[in-house]
Amino acid sequence: MEKIGPLHRRLPPSAADDQPACNDSTNPCFGELLTGIAAIPATRRRVLQGGLGSLALAFLGWIDLPSAAAGGRPTLNFPALAAARDDAVRVADGHVLQLLYAWGDPVSDGPAFRSDAGNSAAEQAVQAGMHHDGMHFFPFSENGQASSTRGVLCINHEYTDEGLLHADGMAEWSHAKTIKSQNAHGVSVIEVELVGSGAERRWRVVRPSRYARRITARTPLRIAGPAAGAPAMRTRDDARGLVVFGTLANCAMGVTPWGTYLSCEENFNGYFNGLAQPTPEQQRYGIRRGGHGARWHEHDRRFDVASEANEANRFGWVVEIDPRQPTQAPVKRTALGRFKHESATVTLAADRRVVVYMGDDEAFEYIYKYVSDDPFPSSDPAGGGHLLDRGTLYVARFSADGRGRWLALQHGRNGLVAATGFADQADVLIRARQAADLVGATKMDRPEWIAVHPQTGEVYCTLTNNRRRSIADAANPRAPNAFGHIIRWREAGGDAAASDFSWDIFVLCGDPQNADAGQRGNIRGDAFGSPDGLWFDAQGRLWIQTDAPGAAIRSGDYERLGNNQVLVADVGSGEVRRFLSGPHGCEITGLTGTPDGCNLFVNIQHPGEAPGARADPARPLAISGWPANQFPEATGGRPRSATVVIRRRDGRVVAG
Ligand code: FEO
Ligand code: CA
Ligand code: CA
Ligand code: CA
Repeated sequence: MEKIGPLHRRLPPSAADDQPACNDSTNPCFGELLTGIAAIPATRRRVLQGGLGSLALAFLGWIDLPSAAAGGRPTLNFPALAAARDDAVRVADGHVLQLLYAWGDPVSDGPAFRSDAGNSAAEQAVQAGMHHDGMHFFPFSENGQASSTRGVLCINHEYTDEGLLHADGMAEWSHAKTIKSQNAHGVSVIEVELVGSGAERRWRVVRPSRYARRITARTPLRIAGPAAGAPAMRTRDDARGLVVFGTLANCAMGVTPWGTYLSCEENFNGYFNGLAQPTPEQQRYGIRRGGHGARWHEHDRRFDVASEANEANRFGWVVEIDPRQPTQAPVKRTALGRFKHESATVTLAADRRVVVYMGDDEAFEYIYKYVSDDPFPSSDPAGGGHLLDRGTLYVARFSADGRGRWLALQHGRNGLVAATGFADQADVLIRARQAADLVGATKMDRPEWIAVHPQTGEVYCTLTNNRRRSIADAANPRAPNAFGHIIRWREAGGDAAASDFSWDIFVLCGDPQNADAGQRGNIRGDAFGSPDGLWFDAQGRLWIQTDAPGAAIRSGDYERLGNNQVLVADVGSGEVRRFLSGPHGCEITGLTGTPDGCNLFVNIQHPGEAPGARADPARPLAISGWPANQFPEATGGRPRSATVVIRRRDGRVVAG
């Protein structure tokens, strides 16, 4: 058992920690520390699937990439970046950086950002939303090849800081401010291309673009899968329970083999003004009086639970968006369950059934997996969205002996029957957290992103931190867990659809100078904490992005680790190097790349974050002036979340 170090207690609570934990079930904890499990052999390669390549200009979903690791190890040849505390994005020597798409930039040929945040609600509906998060580059297919110079970016906008969003912050809260706030949520779909030559090459947003689109908290979405039409999904505005206005709290993401984008609804509960005495279901999902202070309910009764009891059941899902079809309604895929979805990472089982790994990001919540009933055909021009409507949802139980089991959340199995309070499968999915409680899932330290190794099929999941943990267990071996860890598992027989797995801990994060919390595990190199975003490149290098609380970085346990950052890991050797460091008060997220590995897109989320002061425009400004302080082309005035692009100065593979 780890000792509890005094420095842990110095950490100020994050905004999330202000909320009481929702999981008071008696699900198991384990008392033993894990010992290492030998690295698994390379039993399988990720199945890579080209799509619609015969069209002159089409999209590719998964891409068959040249893999440097096919005949050997991935490489970390770049010079490590020192921990930085600048109010700027710093990147490893030999690389160049540009600003691409900041909050308020037009998605197409629409209105420009006003530096006083004076854009109207209607203008915000065709501009970049706030607080960029998960992201993916869908390359165009040119002559049957995946382009690395043209494509579409899908970008989640997770939440808003109302103090920054409106010229006068939250003063005189109004209907217009409510609509603007809703329009700053959701997803951007933008067309991008690399232009110029030599050292002058730059990415630009293509304006106008036929693909450009904003999906907001007011866009009509279709509801599909077992919960579609269920009584608990019906509202006064939607008597059939089949159409919902909007998606929100869009956090991490996934990509399907048929070339669609999965956007995950995470902290949806905070937008609802709950009842003074919430139902057990509402309590379990954190739907409480006052929510997280969004105040939408004052002008949109959908978000007042007393007025519309079922609206909250229509959020907390995975949303599928087809970037090829700018007029098609996105779809909420209810078969994947309702919880605070962080990510929806897709792979294929040995028999080509679709497997989706998902985290529920809250202290003591669970890791889930979905397996489709039917396989994805090797070529299917109709796509595979229907495969996300019929399948089995599982939740993970980690045993102390390094083994684990996927427990089916299926009505009629594992005690999920009428006598235990579950009427049917729709009920199981709408109340997935409670179903997972009943079957005995393992409470984890805030599961965030999940990534599948492209060569071995090993699955890695960030457990960002959990300061509330008082009893350690094998899979969550520190109490409290101020720095987080990364767990990994391999499915039995190398088959993603397997019922059993073995697991170990890839890294316990932390400051090496903190004797109690120092970084350890299967890695060596640069230290970090609060891992969040995860992405494997084609070589099998693991890109780790961090989200440590800003106050902890400024004067807490994270001081020596620098600002939030990106690190690259060789998971075979365990070597980790810092690659990028962000500005003050930001989180780094959304990292993705072009098929050739020569361009990296990264999101800088909430620069200047001032916890507890979201209503006040002055507070973030006192913390960060980014991006205007680093990029002259950015309109000054307020900190703005933004997408940046990184290239190597010589044009070769980034960090290669
Ligand atoms: Fe939206 Fe858990 O990060
Ligand atoms: Ca996250
Ligand atoms: Ca996080
Ligand atoms: Ca964040």
